[in-house]
Amino acid sequence: MERLIIKGGNQLHGDVNCSGAKNAGLPIIAATILLEKTIEIENLPHLKDISTMLELLNSMGSEINFLESGSIEINSSNINLPEARYELVKTMRASVLVMGPLLAKYGKAKISQPGGCNIGTRPIDFHLKGLEMMGAKIDSDKKFIYLKAQKLNPIDFIFPKVSVTGTENLMMAASLTRGKTVLRNCAKEPEVTELANFLNSCGANISGAGESIIEIEGTDLLNGKKWKILSDRIEAGTYLIAAAMTNGHIKVNNISPSTIKIIHQKLSDTGVKIKLEKNSVEADATTTNLQATDICTKPFPGFPTDMQAQFMALNSISNGSSTIEETVFENRFQHVIELRKMGANISLEKNKAKIIGVPNLVGSVVKASDLRASASLVLAALVGKNRTQIDDIFHIDRGYECIEEKLNKLGAEIIREPVI
Ligand code: UD1
Repeated sequence: MERLIIKGGNQLHGDVNCSGAKNAGLPIIAATILLEKTIEIENLPHLKDISTMLELLNSMGSEINFLESGSIEINSSNINLPEARYELVKTMRASVLVMGPLLAKYGKAKISQPGGCNIGTRPIDFHLKGLEMMGAKIDSDKKFIYLKAQKLNPIDFIFPKVSVTGTENLMMAASLTRGKTVLRNCAKEPEVTELANFLNSCGANISGAGESIIEIEGTDLLNGKKWKILSDRIEAGTYLIAAAMTNGHIKVNNISPSTIKIIHQKLSDTGVKIKLEKNSVEADATTTNLQATDICTKPFPGFPTDMQAQFMALNSISNGSSTIEETVFENRFQHVIELRKMGANISLEKNKAKIIGVPNLVGSVVKASDLRASASLVLAALVGKNRTQIDDIFHIDRGYECIEEKLNKLGAEIIREPVI
C-alpha cells in the first residue's frame, strides 16, 4: 500500500504530455481477440487497468510481447480458456469487454459476475440483451455468466440508455458476424470512434461511429498490423484544472481540442484563458479570479462524468456558488466527504451537489474512494494549506500515468511513500 503526501500552495507552470487513453486502450486490447494474427499497439499507458486487461488476455491464452520501443504485440489467435476470472473482473469491471469478442470468435465465454462498484450498481444488462438477440444462450449463477453461440446473427438493437462499453461490446461482436447490424442510441464518446477506426483498420466495415446510429457490415476475418492509441482527454482535462486551481499556466500537449471541447469551454466560463492549437490546449490562470460554474454530467458530447469530481474541487475554491448534477451514475459523490474534510463547503441532495466557494482549502488526511474521486483530492491538495495525505492511492494508479512525476515537473511537491 502506498500514499501520497502533497504540500500545497505552489503555482504550476509548464508543458505536460498527455498519455494514451485508458478507456481507448482497454476495448482495443479486448478487440485483439477478434484478430487472426499478431498486432502491435503503440502508446498504451502504463496503468494498472491496462496491465489487468493484458493479464486477462494472457490468462486466456493470448501471447503478449513487450517491445523495447514501449509498444506491445498481442497475438490472440490461440485462446484456449475463454474465461474472465473473478480476481481480475473484481479489480476492473471493463473486463466485461472481452465478452463480445470471445463469443464472436470462439462461440463461448465465461465471465465472472461484475457486481456493483463504488460509483453505482453498474449493470451489464444491455450488453447481455444485445448478445442474446444475436443468438447467444446465456446462463448465470452467483459467480459467473456463461454465454454460448454456435453462430451469431446480425441485429437491429436500440440501447435503452447510452452505454460506452455496451456500444463497444456489441460493435466488436457484430464486426465478426456476417450480415448488417444496426445499433441505435449508441455512445458517441471519442473512445468508441477510436475502437471503430481500429476495427476498420483491421478490415471491419463500421460506419456512423461518433453518431447515434452505428451500422456494422460483419465479416469473417479481421487482421491489423499496428495501431497507436488515442490520447487521454480526462487526463488532459485534469491537468488543465490543475492550472486553473493553482493560478498557474499549463500547456497540455498531445491532445486534440475537439475531444475536450466542453471541458475547455467550461474552464473559459470560470475565467481561465484558453489557447487551442491543433494538438494542444493551454490554460493560463495567472491573472484569473476564478468564478464558479454549474455542471451537469451527460454522455458525450456533454460534460463527462469522469471530470465531475475534478470540477467539484475547482468550484470549491471559486467565487460564488454552483451546482453539480450527476446524471450518469447514481453514487458518484464519494469525494464530497473528503473535500469537506479539507474545508470545502458542499451540501448534497440526491444527485445534486451545491458548492459555496471558500477562499482556502486546508491540508488533511483523506482517502481515495475511486479513480476520479482520487484525482479531485490531488487537485484539492495542490492548493490546500500545509500538507495533505491521500490514502488508498491504488485507485489513482488505475487511470493516471506517472501523476506525481508529471505534476512535480510542473512545480508541485508530491511524494509517494509506502504505508508500513
Ligand atoms: C465507461 C467508462 C467510464 C465512464 C463511463 C461513462 C470505460 C472503460 N469506462 O464506463 O470511465 O465513467 O463510460 O462515461 O470506457 N448501464 C446500464 N446497463 C448496462 C450498461 C450501462 O444500466 O448494460 C448504465 C450504467 O449503470 C450507467 C450508464 O448506463 O448509469 C452509463 O454507463 P456506461 O456508459 O455503460 O459506463 P461504462 O461503459 O461502464
